[in-house]
Amino acid sequence: MSDNTLAYTPAVKAATGPIYERVKDLIPEVEWAVYAPLIHAINELKRERKAYILAHNYQTPEIYHGIADYTGDSLGLAQQGAKTDADVIVMCGVRFMAETAKILAPQKKVLMPDMSAGCSLAASITAEDVRELKRKYPGVPVVAYVNTYADVRAEVDICCTSGNAVEIVESLGADKVIFLPDGYLGRYVATQTDVEIILWEGACEVHEKFTPDDIRVFRADHPGLEVIAHPECPPEVLAEADFVGSTAGMIKYVADNRPAKVAMITECSMSDNVSVNFPDVEFIRPCNFCPHMRKITLAKVLKCLQDMGPEIHVDPAVAEKARLSTERMLTAGKRHSRED
Ligand code: 13P
Ligand code: SF4
Repeated sequence: MSDNTLAYTPAVKAATGPIYERVKDLIPEVEWAVYAPLIHAINELKRERKAYILAHNYQTPEIYHGIADYTGDSLGLAQQGAKTDADVIVMCGVRFMAETAKILAPQKKVLMPDMSAGCSLAASITAEDVRELKRKYPGVPVVAYVNTYADVRAEVDICCTSGNAVEIVESLGADKVIFLPDGYLGRYVATQTDVEIILWEGACEVHEKFTPDDIRVFRADHPGLEVIAHPECPPEVLAEADFVGSTAGMIKYVADNRPAKVAMITECSMSDNVSVNFPDVEFIRPCNFCPHMRKITLAKVLKCLQDMGPEIHVDPAVAEKARLSTERMLTAGKRHSRED
C-alpha cells in the first residue's frame, strides 16, 4: 500500500470520526492523524479478507477501540475464537493466545502480526519440565494456565485462565493438583480452595513488579479509592486489594460497582481502554506495561492482513493433545463459570 493511501484525508477523517469520538480523551489529534489512515485501511481490508480481529484487554486503545471485532480476557478470546465463523482470525495479543485459537479451530487461518510477541510465563516452562513433574508426582492431575505453549498444554490434564482457575482446580475432584506455570496465581488459587496446590515458580514480568507500597501510596493520595488486582500479582499485593479477578472480572467489577475512583493493578493499557466506557469513574493509572503486548501495532496488523501472514502453525499431533486439555477447560468452565 502506498503512502498516499495512508494519508489523513477528509474521507478518512469522516470514516473514522465515530471511533475518534470515543477515544478523543486518550489520543491527541496529532496522533490520531497517524492512526486513523491505518485504522481505516485495516477495517476495509478485514472486510475484504473476511477476517475477524480478536484483541486482548492489554492492547493499546487505537487497536482495542479502533479495529477489534471482539475484546476480552484470555478465556473470552479462546471462546470467541472457537465460536466465530470467520475463516481468518487476527490475534492482537501474544503468541500463546494465537496458539489457543489455532488449537481450538485448526481449520482456520490464524494470523499473528508479530510472531515474537511472547510471555514470561509461557517462557518459564517446557514440555520436558511437565513430564519431569509428572514423574515426581505420579497420578497427580496437572492444570496449566493457558499462558503456556501448545507442547506444554499437550502434556497436561486441563487448562485454565485467571477467570476460571479456582473452578477448574475444583472440577477435578482431586485432593492435590500440580498447577503451572504461574506461582502467584497458584498461590492465589490455594487461598480459595481446600485442594493442595503443587506450584511451579513462573511469574508474569508485569504483575510481579507491583508492591504493597504502591497500593498504600495510591490509597493515601486518593482517599476513597477502590483497588482491584489481577491474581498474577504477588500475595502481599493481593492482600491490599478490595477485589481480585481476571481482566474481564475487573471490567465486570467496575461495571457492577461503579466506584468513584478505582486503580486497576494490572497492565496499564487496561485502564485507558476501560475508562472510555465508564466516564463517571476516575481511573488512577499505574503504569507497568507488557513489552510483548506492545509489539502489536496497527502497522503490523495492516501488513499481516495484506500478506495474510505470518500464520500460526501448531504441529497437528501436538495440537490434537493440546486441544483435549484446552477444550476440557471450556466444558468445565461452562459448568463452573462465575464471571459470566
Ligand atoms: P486475563 O486477561 O485472562 O486475565 O490474562 C491476563 C494476562 O496476563 C494475559 O496475558
Ligand atoms: Fe505474559 Fe504478563 Fe505479558 Fe500477560 S502481561 S502476556 S502474563 S508477560
